[in-house]
Amino acid sequence: MSESSRPKGPSPLVVRGVRRSFKVGERRIEILHGVDLDLHDGERLCLMGASGAGKTTLLNVIGLLDRPDEGSVQIMGTEAWAQSAPARARLRNRSLGFVFQFYHLLPELSALENATLTARLAGLRGGALSAQRDRAAEILRRFGLSERLGHRPGRLSGGEQQRVAIARALLLDPPILVADEPTGNLDRATGERVLELLFEEQERRAFSLLLVTHDERLAQRCSRVVYMEDGLIQADSTTPIPH
Ligand SMILES: Nc1ncnc2c1ncn2[C@@H]1O[C@H](COP(=O)(O)OP(=O)(O)O)[C@@H](O)[C@H]1O
Ligand SMILES: [Mg+2]
Repeated sequence: MSESSRPKGPSPLVVRGVRRSFKVGERRIEILHGVDLDLHDGERLCLMGASGAGKTTLLNVIGLLDRPDEGSVQIMGTEAWAQSAPARARLRNRSLGFVFQFYHLLPELSALENATLTARLAGLRGGALSAQRDRAAEILRRFGLSERLGHRPGRLSGGEQQRVAIARALLLDPPILVADEPTGNLDRATGERVLELLFEEQERRAFSLLLVTHDERLAQRCSRVVYMEDGLIQADSTTPIPH
């Protein structure tokens, strides 16, 4: 293992034996068949795999949005799914940023209000909240959106909406950022600009990034790639990519 790819600290995210099935009509169909995954401290891990392989299902379990039938998700050393719902929500607010393919901005809020949402959900009020609003504005300006702070999502392009979503995910400086095909809905040039921003922010903040993508070229920019097939991470699929 080269110096640059050596883990720096304990893995911020450890997934063990995760199973998830869904009821479809009268049947239960298992989608995740016992997934193990480690996200190392500070790395940029790329998760690839065909459509339908179970990547989003796994990310929803990791993002604490969907409870697995079996298995564990440790986030910053805490057994996430063993916590009470409020404790899990606090863990999510403190430790995880999530970026979706379809942005998931609230249509009635401005870009700035959307980016500040994380602070509201974390329960910040008064001066602490307005300090975070200032930070959100600063991030949005850095992302080239200074003229768009007051715009609602409906008046923003896809690339602009995704930049707002990334600002929202990064606002509270989470140690882990999970992104599910963040450029999947963008044209190539726009997607590349969004990714540059994401990678620059990773340099700046040193969070650990788990990135789902179909794009082989993007995988080249990651420190490691793992492949998912039919609800399992391929055992021999870990490829450290030299920078
Ligand atoms: N809520 C659900 N109910 C039933 N089937 C689901 C549900 N969510 C996902 N699936 C199925 O699980 C499989 C994996 O889906 P998904 O995790 O979205 O794959 P990927 O993100 O790799 O394209 C698909 O066959 C999909 O239809
Ligand atoms: Mg998906």
